Amino acid sequence: MTTMKAVRFHSYGASDVLVYEDVPRPEPASDEVLVKVHATSVNPIDWKVRAGHLRGFRDYPLPFILGWDVSGVIESVGAGAAPWKAGDEVFGRPDAARNGAYAEYIAVKAAELARKPKKLDHVHSAAIPLAGLTAWQALFDTAGLQSGQKVLIHAAAGGVGHMAIQFAKFKGLYAAGTASGRNQEYLKQLGCDLPINYETTRFEDVARDYEAVIESMGGEVRKRSWQVLKKGGILVALIGPPPAEEDAQAHAVRSAIIWGQMNAAQLTEIAQLADAGKFRPEIAAVFPLRDAAKAHRMSETEHVRGKIVLQVV
Ligand SMILES: NC(=O)c1ccc[n+]([C@@H]2O[C@H](COP(=O)([O-])OP(=O)(O)OC[C@H]3O[C@@H](n4cnc5c(N)ncnc54)[C@H](OP(=O)(O)O)[C@@H]3O)[C@@H](O)[C@H]2O)c1
Repeated sequence: MTTMKAVRFHSYGASDVLVYEDVPRPEPASDEVLVKVHATSVNPIDWKVRAGHLRGFRDYPLPFILGWDVSGVIESVGAGAAPWKAGDEVFGRPDAARNGAYAEYIAVKAAELARKPKKLDHVHSAAIPLAGLTAWQALFDTAGLQSGQKVLIHAAAGGVGHMAIQFAKFKGLYAAGTASGRNQEYLKQLGCDLPINYETTRFEDVARDYEAVIESMGGEVRKRSWQVLKKGGILVALIGPPPAEEDAQAHAVRSAIIWGQMNAAQLTEIAQLADAGKFRPEIAAVFPLRDAAKAHRMSETEHVRGKIVLQVV
């Protein structure tokens, strides 16, 4: 049996359940490719799964490898894995139900990959897929936003938020965003039209008649977000529980909850934006794969600017 290094957890718990160890190297099926992972990224879903917060809703076979972003080079291809060939540089959002990319190799379906941005290294490329596709789909597929419309993006300095602000500006939207005082200047640099310091300002006092709110905080933030919307507007939730239908009706608006999906055409468009210098992911920290537990502890602070990346090669 060929082995590889990976980070797995054998039981749910705190960050120290993550173990850097030798595991069997996956064998790609005929419609799959084997990717040599150069980098992967940490998303909040990773530590939520590890801590057992999703048990009952999504159960994982233990031991399990996290990591639903990948940037790397194709090592080998199954017979039906066109158009890929060994040596192609790719990035993607592997299926969250299977072992992920906290590993030297990952087997993924051919459709879960796109060509990596040429002008970004693997560290920056690995930061993009899950957060970027979620931001893109929330703004343009679910909210259906178009040039000139207004969107409020919560947690605008975070992994999803900082990409959502850049995509919104690229498409000609007016974008407001919430963050703490320390991130106000950063939001301006991203192009945010109305940075809102949640430590000093209630966002509903300064944002009114918006077509959409991208809501990733839940609780009190969600409750106060309804009044930001104009009639017929939409609150797009990125975390559960789903928004209550009565709340949407009471404000004559719509709501949705989404789970970002792999979409090769969208990821290719995002890669082209990066290559054109119109979009760049922010990297808060890079850890070697073996230090995944440290990376999780940083993500669990919920105050990361941009993304945390695990470098494998
Ligand atoms: N549905 C999906 O498909 C999907 C996909 C990706 C993520 N998510 C979920 O969406 C949420 C955000 O994900 P992420 O990757 O962007 O997380 P993240 O990178 O960990 O977000 C960190 C950011 O949250 C900001 N923040 C913390 N408290 C805030 C508050 N009260 N108001 C406004 N901003 C605040 C922080 O800014 P300050 O430091 O300035 O406070 C920080 O920049 C997570 O719960 C994640 O699980 C869902």
